Amino acid sequence: MKFVIANWKMNGDLALVADFKEKFGNSNQAAEERVKVIVCPPAALLGAFSDFPYDFGAQNCFFEDSGAFTGENSPKLLKEMGCKYVILGHSERRSIFGESDDLIFKKWLKVVELGMTPILCIGENAEQRGQWRDVLRRQLEKYTPLSGLHGTIFAYEPVWSIGTGKIPSEEEIIEAAAFITDVLGKDKYENEEYYIVYGGSVKSSNAASIMCIAGVDGVLVGSASLKTAEFEGIVGGA
Ligand code: PGA
Repeated sequence: MKFVIANWKMNGDLALVADFKEKFGNSNQAAEERVKVIVCPPAALLGAFSDFPYDFGAQNCFFEDSGAFTGENSPKLLKEMGCKYVILGHSERRSIFGESDDLIFKKWLKVVELGMTPILCIGENAEQRGQWRDVLRRQLEKYTPLSGLHGTIFAYEPVWSIGTGKIPSEEEIIEAAAFITDVLGKDKYENEEYYIVYGGSVKSSNAASIMCIAGVDGVLVGSASLKTAEFEGIVGGA
């Protein structure tokens, strides 16, 4: 089974939701066993997904259920709205909003406590390319001592690949996936422990080959998930 995760970022509108419902509205059991589609629209559009047959999730949340936190997304409410997944630690959250590994870990704990599945983004930026192992090790270090990872989907997203059309080589992706498994030090599939997906410039023309790479359980798709035909091609190639 492969994950195909759409990250709309702060894009999309009610018309796109309607388009997705029309194209992906008739979920089919056989296809679902082969590919798990998860759509993560902006929070303001989540309500429009309540009758969507595939899973959907949020792009971020806070680490408290409620309180005086103006502008934040309550993870408890996200769950009530039907979210099964929450993307955490996306590089845009880290670089634009200054999210630290400590903050991301607090959010991870809350998402897991509420029974949702975290999609945890990690990856080096262009300057860190030579030290990608150190970066990944640092971003993962809070998770290595844990006894369970609750099905967390680790999304390896080299920042230099996001929105640039540049993709690491197959060998580099294999190496990164193997390194993540090594750092986490746990059997990946035992008890649905965790998964690893790749993200960064995924489109219909490269998705099928990326999903075949050893150690890769799917893809996280940004801009190509905003075009229904493109996204359909990615799902079809899984
Ligand atoms: P992209 O974005 O597919 O547009 O490169 C991926 C992401 O940021 O998750």
